This record gives sequence, C-alpha cells and structure tokens, in this order.
Amino acid sequence: MTASNLIDGRAIASAIHEETARRVERLRARGVQPGLVFIRVGEDPASKVYVGMKERMSGQLGIRSETHVLPEATPEGELLALIDRLNRDETVHGILVQAPLPRHISEARVYASVAPEKDVDGFHPVNVGKLMLGDDTGFVPCTPAGVHELLIRAKVPVEGAEVVVLGRGNIVGKPLAALLMQKAPHANATVTVCHSRTRDIAAHCRRADILVAAMGVAEFVKADMVKEEAVVIDVGVNRVEDPAAPKGYRLVGDVAFAEVQPKVRLITPNPGGVGPMTIAMLMRNTVRAAELAAAAG
Ligand SMILES: NC(=O)c1ccc[n+]([C@@H]2O[C@H](COP(=O)([O-])OP(=O)(O)OC[C@H]3O[C@@H](n4cnc5c(N)ncnc54)[C@H](OP(=O)(O)O)[C@@H]3O)[C@@H](O)[C@H]2O)c1
Repeated sequence: MTASNLIDGRAIASAIHEETARRVERLRARGVQPGLVFIRVGEDPASKVYVGMKERMSGQLGIRSETHVLPEATPEGELLALIDRLNRDETVHGILVQAPLPRHISEARVYASVAPEKDVDGFHPVNVGKLMLGDDTGFVPCTPAGVHELLIRAKVPVEGAEVVVLGRGNIVGKPLAALLMQKAPHANATVTVCHSRTRDIAAHCRRADILVAAMGVAEFVKADMVKEEAVVIDVGVNRVEDPAAPKGYRLVGDVAFAEVQPKVRLITPNPGGVGPMTIAMLMRNTVRAAELAAAAG
C-alpha cells in the first residue's frame, strides 16, 4: 500500500468547515449570530493550545466566541454560577468547559450544569442518554462524532462490520461504541470494546474490519495486531520524549503507524486524522445549537 491509503482528516474537516460556514451565513442573514463560549480553569498548557485552536476556527467560520479564563483556585460554585449565567444568555448557543478541571472541581457536576441544548461537547447526561437511546435530537461528543463522520466520508462500510474500539473512556470509546452499534444508517456495526482488563486484545484486534484506537498508549497497535484490509482509526495523542525534537518531545498516536500503514486498507495519519475532525464537529454542533434555538424562537 502507498500513501493513497490515508484518510485525510484535514481535507475532510475543511470540507465540513465550508458547509458550516455556509450555515453560519444563512443564520446571520436571518439576524442570528452563533455564539460559543469557552471556559478554561487554570493554566494547563495543552488546554490553552486546544482552546486557542477552537477560538481561531470559530472566528474563521463567523462564529462569535469568547473565552473565560478562571484562576486554578476558583471555587466550584463560582464556575457553576458562571455557567448558569451563560445558560440564560440568549446570545450564547454553545458552552464548552475545557478539561481537565482542577481536582477540587467535579467534572460530572460541571457537565451536568450546562443546559443540554447548549452542551455542544455532548457530555451532559441528557445528551449521553439520547446517544445511547438512538435519539438523534441530542449532541454527540465531538471526537466520536468526528470518527463516525470520517468513516462515512471515506466511504467505509460500517453496517454489519466488525468494529473493535480500544478504550472505554467517556469521551471517546464509550460514546463511539454507542454510536456505531445503533440501529441506524451508517451504523449497525458489531462493536467490541476493549480495555485494560480485556484478555488477549491482539486477538480481538485481528478480527476487526474497523479498528479504532482510543487508549492513550503510544504506538500500542502493531502490524501483527491488524488484519490485512482493515481500516484503522488512530485517536490517541501521546507525548513521547525525543531529545532531537525542538520541544524535547513529539506527539504520536496509539498506532505504530510506520509498520501498520503498509498492511491495511485505510488508516488515519496522526496528526492530521481525527484531531481536525474533533474541531469540525464542535463547530457543526455549535451551528446546530444556534439553528435549533432560532427555530424555537
Ligand atoms: N484527537 C482528538 O481530538 C482526541 C480527543 C479526545 C481524546 N483523544 C485521545 O484519545 C485517547 C483516549 O482518550 P480518553 O479520554 O478516552 O482516555 P481515558 O478516558 O483515559 O480512557 C482510556 C481507555 O483506554 C484503556 N486503556 C489504557 N491503557 C490500556 C492498555 N494498556 N490496554 C488496554 N486498554 C487500555 C483504559 O482502560 P480502563 O477503562 O480499564 O482503565 C480506558 O478505557 C488519549 O490519547 C487522548 O489524548 C484525542
């Protein structure tokens, strides 16, 4: 196989951004300005980078964004009060609280405090429940939604496929499994979810038509763990020390790309695969939230 077996997440994300920008234009023509608010607590360096990227993309698409940066020591009540105020602000259609939060703040309580119709991250229990029930009126978390959209746009048949998801995290693995197992178009997969207590992960992986790695373990998936002609989606983002790199580290995925890529039918590069799709889904969720709010009058 050559580089032609790459699923180009950047190109697919940019096509989605164009669609989203047109939806923003249509809303603005009707006098509705989509608004997205980011909340960051503390100075986690990765969070700064992520929020910065999302702010820039919002601006490029015509979505108004604002970021609240709260000090690390902010009491939980203060954060909840801010969210409550934003929930009642009609100019705000999406609210995103960037993880990780400081240890003294409950992520679960914070996610549950965001109004479900502004929960563009899809973490509110109502949206999690809707996803599980196959009710498509909620918001699907951005990374699993991005993986699903990548599969659809790369024309990977999902119906009836053996999908193996590595990782059962609440942000990626679990919601992705729920999404792909639904009795719905572009779903209907037979999904296996593996985790740290799974016996013989390699045997599960070798059965997969579609293998999604979302564990956070650098280069875990090796060539002998994938079947020929599999489709491999690498969600992982891991720092590995590299004295030769300018920052002293480099980012790698959960898949040993160099050895797996020649063997499989399709594979996402990392970076340049799932990451751009996550942002594309956030922007799309935000515009949808604004459209729904406008329709509700
Ligand atoms: N590209 C993006 O936009 C994006 C977005 C979100 C996350 N990510 C990346 O995706 C990865 C997963 O994120 P997450 O938030 O879902 O992580 P998480 O909540 O920590 O979940 C990790 C999962 O992997 C499993 N696991 C860890 N080590 C394992 C091992 N050696 N063997 C088998 N299973 C193992 C864990 O099993 P247990 O449940 O048994 O502990 C857990 O289910 C991370 O690298 C993260 O950075 C990327």
